[in-house]
Amino acid sequence: MPNPVQLICRKRDGEELSAVEIRSFIDSYVEGRLPDYQMSAFAMAVMFRGMTDDEIAALTEAMLRSGVVLDWPSGLPVVDKHSTGGIGDKVSIVLAPLLAACDLRVPMLSGRGLGPTGGTLDKLEAISGFRTNLRLDELQSVVERVGCVITGTTSDLVPADRKLYALRDVTGTVPSIPLITASIMSKKLAENLQSLVLDVKWGSGAFMRTREQAEALARSMVRVGQLLGTPTVAVLTDMNQPLGRMCGNAVEIDESIECLKGGGPVDLRELTLTLGAAVLRMLDGRNTEDARELLRTRLDSGAAYERFERMVVAQGGQLTTPLARAPETLLRSDRAGYVSRMDVAAIGYSIIDMGGGRRVLTDKIDHSVGLEMLVRIGDRVDRNQPLARVFARKSAEFAVESLRSSISMTDEPPAVLGLVVGTID
Ligand code: URA
Repeated sequence: MPNPVQLICRKRDGEELSAVEIRSFIDSYVEGRLPDYQMSAFAMAVMFRGMTDDEIAALTEAMLRSGVVLDWPSGLPVVDKHSTGGIGDKVSIVLAPLLAACDLRVPMLSGRGLGPTGGTLDKLEAISGFRTNLRLDELQSVVERVGCVITGTTSDLVPADRKLYALRDVTGTVPSIPLITASIMSKKLAENLQSLVLDVKWGSGAFMRTREQAEALARSMVRVGQLLGTPTVAVLTDMNQPLGRMCGNAVEIDESIECLKGGGPVDLRELTLTLGAAVLRMLDGRNTEDARELLRTRLDSGAAYERFERMVVAQGGQLTTPLARAPETLLRSDRAGYVSRMDVAAIGYSIIDMGGGRRVLTDKIDHSVGLEMLVRIGDRVDRNQPLARVFARKSAEFAVESLRSSISMTDEPPAVLGLVVGTID
């Protein structure tokens, strides 16, 4: 391996490293020959100096090759979606079975809550018995039988990311576009996909607070997908208010089921159709309207819901709906006016405070807590009008008041933003 100190110095001085150099750096780190302090210095140099697209692609490839890359028997196309995360974002739970109902294979490797955002795995575990820790052979068998699976990543997939992410978390090197790109894309590309759609969110409840940051991340990820041979499209979406009405675990499963049966909130259905259509367009070049029509048909006919039920059974779950909810308290507006802004991250933290997420790794989640937003930005409300239903077991009054301070009201109507603000391909 080249001298690691020289590689760190060259990155510190803004030079471009070769793919071979990046690969040897990552390999040494995963094998334990490169200590954490040198990897930390390298990550910080990348944070300040950035990387070229070729370097990011090399880093992504080195990371994805650090573990198993899934191998699929020939057959239906293998596709997936990744979201950078937001409050109320339950699209994965609808989209995986929906795409399976369109004759695609969807091996969706998902995560748990990160910061204020809930995790798809935590939501699915609201279903009694649902297993999210499948082995790779089980994951592949569920995909072959049902068409889709939603489970956690395993230790054999991208070990480089597990080690590097933990280090970044404690060295101030998480918010680096090259490092985020390599982290997300290495995990997705290890699934060995024929097409990938990315939902990159911006706003008060997103990892990327500004639209510009989200766009830069989206461009970087799409470029890397393309350089590494996986057709990739990113959709930029608004996370300045929760997606759908329900936020929490059990309540989000209930809302996902409504959507899977052809109903549900308009924004959730719209985003699901947009992301699904992007996948279909990349695969066979069909136009967006035809793709959306196919997806609508699969939702409205119950075909997507039928796949969901089969996935639940295949993963050990027993579905009884609606799922249990904690007792309800109404949040009423203390004034008349327009809903002008929501601090969506604060809404996420309120749910964590109610027990719907973890403050420390060992916390047990209460799946029955959460909330239903009854208003959206731009709505005119009267004094005393209900703004949200809060489902809480403990400190319901505290939850209601902290939720109240997350919702701002004005006398004048605010500018209302669109849900989908751009596509990058
Ligand atoms: N999510 C990831 O998987 N990796 C990052 O670096 C950031 C968010």
